[in-house]
Amino acid sequence: MQAVANAAQNYMGTVPTVVQPEYKRDPERTMKALVWFGARDVRVVEVPAPDITEDEDVIVKVTGTTICGSDLHLYHGEIMTMQKGDILGHEFMGVVDKVGPNVKNLKVGQRVVASFQIICGECDYCKQKLSSMCDKTNNSSLQQYMYGQADAGFFGYSHFTGGFPGGQAEFVRVPKGEINLLPLPENVPDEKVLYLSDILPTSFHAVADTGVTKGDVVGVWGLGPIGQCVVRWAKLMGASRVIGIDRIPERLAFAKEKSGIEVIDFKEHKDVTKRIYEMVPRGLDVAIDCGSFHEPKSMSHKVQKTLMLETDAPETINEMLVSVRKMGRCGIIAAYAGFANGFNVGALMEKGIRLIGNGQAPVHKYWKEILTDYIIPGKFDPTFIVTHRVPLDDMAKLYEAFSQRKSGVEKVFVETKFSSPPSPGCPKPTRVHEWAM
Ligand SMILES: NC(=O)c1ccc[n+]([C@@H]2O[C@H](COP(=O)([O-])OP(=O)(O)OC[C@H]3O[C@@H](n4cnc5c(N)ncnc54)[C@H](O)[C@@H]3O)[C@@H](O)[C@H]2O)c1
Ligand SMILES: [Zn+2]
Ligand SMILES: [Zn+2]
Repeated sequence: MQAVANAAQNYMGTVPTVVQPEYKRDPERTMKALVWFGARDVRVVEVPAPDITEDEDVIVKVTGTTICGSDLHLYHGEIMTMQKGDILGHEFMGVVDKVGPNVKNLKVGQRVVASFQIICGECDYCKQKLSSMCDKTNNSSLQQYMYGQADAGFFGYSHFTGGFPGGQAEFVRVPKGEINLLPLPENVPDEKVLYLSDILPTSFHAVADTGVTKGDVVGVWGLGPIGQCVVRWAKLMGASRVIGIDRIPERLAFAKEKSGIEVIDFKEHKDVTKRIYEMVPRGLDVAIDCGSFHEPKSMSHKVQKTLMLETDAPETINEMLVSVRKMGRCGIIAAYAGFANGFNVGALMEKGIRLIGNGQAPVHKYWKEILTDYIIPGKFDPTFIVTHRVPLDDMAKLYEAFSQRKSGVEKVFVETKFSSPPSPGCPKPTRVHEWAM
């Protein structure tokens, strides 16, 4: 798939953008970074460090990075136009190390977190803070062709989203750094702010955009870091009941014990919708997909995916469509890439369901509000989701362990040689090879 997609992209050429993805090498230094070599083959290697390439650039010295469920799609080779040598990672924080000549509002040494999307700040979408939809930063003609229009460029997320080197590294070049970095107050620990890059705005957006309101009964498919945060936001927004669905025992127990919700183990309850109707005879008001399209459940979709008859499976969406009440709402925050067979369009139409593609979440719309209204006053403490801390040297092993959901892993804080020590109450460093199965 990668070879065909890369050939198509080369044939079509790139779309003009206001930022260029490639960085100029810093002649003074190299750095460690997690590099993609092929499906299920990622390695931490020494690569050239980035230097200021365009006048609005900021170079960030990384003090915290992590892995996301979305990285697993790259790891498994499910996202198009990956290239050998790509640096992955789209969630990172650090301190400003160098600034380009046009950067006026950020100073060397300042503590910042990056948004996973790179935005121009000027197009119609950016003006509305719908940052993931920026029109001017993603050069992928393949995405334009497949979707009619392209998302913003993202850090470390294939050439389908612009080919920008990512944040699982010691240094990152942040194009248009003044808008794509959020300055951080000194007194909030790293473990509480790193996830403003992605999973906090993403989970908040899933709940807000799907319209969870007071009294709603909400089903959450997938209890990885996104699903666990969606559960918390749904409760904060007044959901009367939240039901989480997964098959990983530690993740089910985590949601039950830490967030006090009801759960369904889909290994035990093969017919998830039947179980939901036993629990909620009227049907769910809202269903949110926080799962992963690379893990189809049924043999039929496993086969269709293997034979490339579809790129994605519609199983979770179909379960949601059947489980919500008439006129209910279904949100898709989980990533999908292309086409799925057997979609239950009848249930969607006949029940009058609002099916909402939540999109890649617009981080810029929410990150300041989440920091000032929820994290600082203690209304939402993101450290509940941080289960492990490991060094960047272990990043390749972490891909495998996170993919296998080893050792009760949810979100991981990945430290570099520039990181501060762990904050009180947060996980201490471990090595991935020591994790229990
Ligand atoms: N839209 C965005 O902006 C955005 C941002 C970040 C992540 N994501 C996506 O959100 C999803 C979740 O991310 P994560 O970091 O929590 O990932 P994760 O891989 O850690 O968790 C996914 C969970 O879904 C469960 N799951 C898989 N198939 C399921 C099914 N059929 N029914 C119920 N549960 C199922 C898995 O067991 C796993 O626990 C991923 O698809 C990721 O790509 C989207
Ligand atoms: Zn992500
Ligand atoms: Zn824009």
